[in-house]
Amino acid sequence: MSVKVLITKSYDELSKKAAEIVASTIRNKPNLVLGLATGGTPMGCYRELIRMHREEGLDFSEVVTFNLDEYIGLSPDHPQSYRYFMDENLFRHVNIRMENTHVPDGMSKDPRKTCEEYEDAIRKVGRIDLQLLGIGSNGHIAFNEPSSPFDSRTRVVSLSERTIKDNARFFKSIDEVPRQALSMGMGTTTEARKIILLASGAGKAEAVAKSVEGKITTDVPASVLQKHPDCTFILDEEAASKLSGKVTKF
Ligand code: F6R
Repeated sequence: MSVKVLITKSYDELSKKAAEIVASTIRNKPNLVLGLATGGTPMGCYRELIRMHREEGLDFSEVVTFNLDEYIGLSPDHPQSYRYFMDENLFRHVNIRMENTHVPDGMSKDPRKTCEEYEDAIRKVGRIDLQLLGIGSNGHIAFNEPSSPFDSRTRVVSLSERTIKDNARFFKSIDEVPRQALSMGMGTTTEARKIILLASGAGKAEAVAKSVEGKITTDVPASVLQKHPDCTFILDEEAASKLSGKVTKF
């Protein structure tokens, strides 16, 4: 098995492709269970989904979402919390029911229990139908940093130095970047029926090449996706620049 690779000309095209896949999957299954990512990469896709909702009537009223992760210690009204990100960049612009949106609670007094409850909530709706992923420059997916076990579940994780540096661009200073997060596990994430991973820019090229063409190893978490039966990487040309070219394109 291998991942499929779709190389687009620009970030804009990548975003539109991703949004088209999400939209057609929602049209086929209005009560879709959708796994969502935050960060810079999916923002264009979310903008396009909002446009489709406004101009084409894309209906989120029965969609249920689960986000990958949340920083520990950031409340939902903190501008860098992932709950705030989702509300601002997608949820409040479409007709999704807020009670159908799930983001782990980074302020929980009992994070362990919160993680178990998150797994239970996913189990209750069955399985994630479509999971949107980004990728860290170190190959992480969600906040599963290198060496995360492939069968890990939602849990408290520590961010790697590289991720802290990468994410400092969203904060006033690197000291403000939380050091820990709640993250869906590798096992949780890869159980989704269908996965699309988005990567843009030269900074992701090495992680993408290793994940698509390298050895399957916990050193490069996204390499596990090679074993998934339905996983597509949607890349722009820069993110695809280190692939050997022997990948399955479509
Ligand atoms: C975000 C997440 C992360 C990001 C990754 C890439 O919910 O789980 O794995 O997808 O760090 O982030 P960006 O898109 O900002 O480069």
